[in-house]
Amino acid sequence: MADQIALTTQLTDYVRDVSLREDDILRELREETADLPGGTAMQVLAEEGQLLGVLARLARARSILELGTFTGYSTLCLARALPADGRLVTCDITDRWPAIGMPYWQRAGVRDRIDLRVGDGCATLETMLAEQGPELFDLVFIDADKANYARYYELSLDLVRIGGLIVVDNTLFFGRVADPGAQDADTEGVRELNDRMRSDDRVAISMLTMADGITLAVRTS
Ligand SMILES: C[S@@+](CC[C@H](N)C(=O)[O-])C[C@H]1O[C@@H](n2cnc3c(N)ncnc32)[C@H](O)[C@@H]1O
Repeated sequence: MADQIALTTQLTDYVRDVSLREDDILRELREETADLPGGTAMQVLAEEGQLLGVLARLARARSILELGTFTGYSTLCLARALPADGRLVTCDITDRWPAIGMPYWQRAGVRDRIDLRVGDGCATLETMLAEQGPELFDLVFIDADKANYARYYELSLDLVRIGGLIVVDNTLFFGRVADPGAQDADTEGVRELNDRMRSDDRVAISMLTMADGITLAVRTS
């Protein structure tokens, strides 16, 4: 088996130089978010945001569900990849952070595609399933509280159509998943989901070592 190439700073800078397309709106949202406590660690890397847009286009997504809005950088990347009549439901426990992103969504001309649901993510998905039934979405992006990751995944499998894509962020969780000494609820939550996906024959998976770990799961049955 070939080895994974080691990523030096020089190589990372090169990759950014030749592939990153972050416009002024995204850059300004990133900079405003970076001033918040924990802001940089919480929002997706610019290249991950770009990947999300590519994945949404590949999936020909018209309906997207996002768990974990924060200030809405990933929301904006996903919403831009939708057709004009597409819809993105994004969930966060608080409206404090999404309120920062909304003017940027507006400036980008995609505010009307975005439906923000404020409240506990699991409860929001359970209500959606009960009221609207399964298979509502072409793509789901999971990036909320890690302790609930396995529950988000199960609910997302019901909510995504067969052939649709689930994207899970932070599946390496700052490297803590491979550290036996890390026993906190968040690390355990990510580990539990990684183990579950490994042997789940309802999905085809690929675990990317990009950013903080991104697992792709296509629902096959
Ligand atoms: C890692 S951040 C999301 C980052 C975002 N995707 C981005 O790219 O900027 C996680 C978010 O999950 C939210 N969150 C935490 N617990 C939650 C819960 N129980 N239900 C819904 N959202 C929750 C937090 O408020 C936070 O905004």
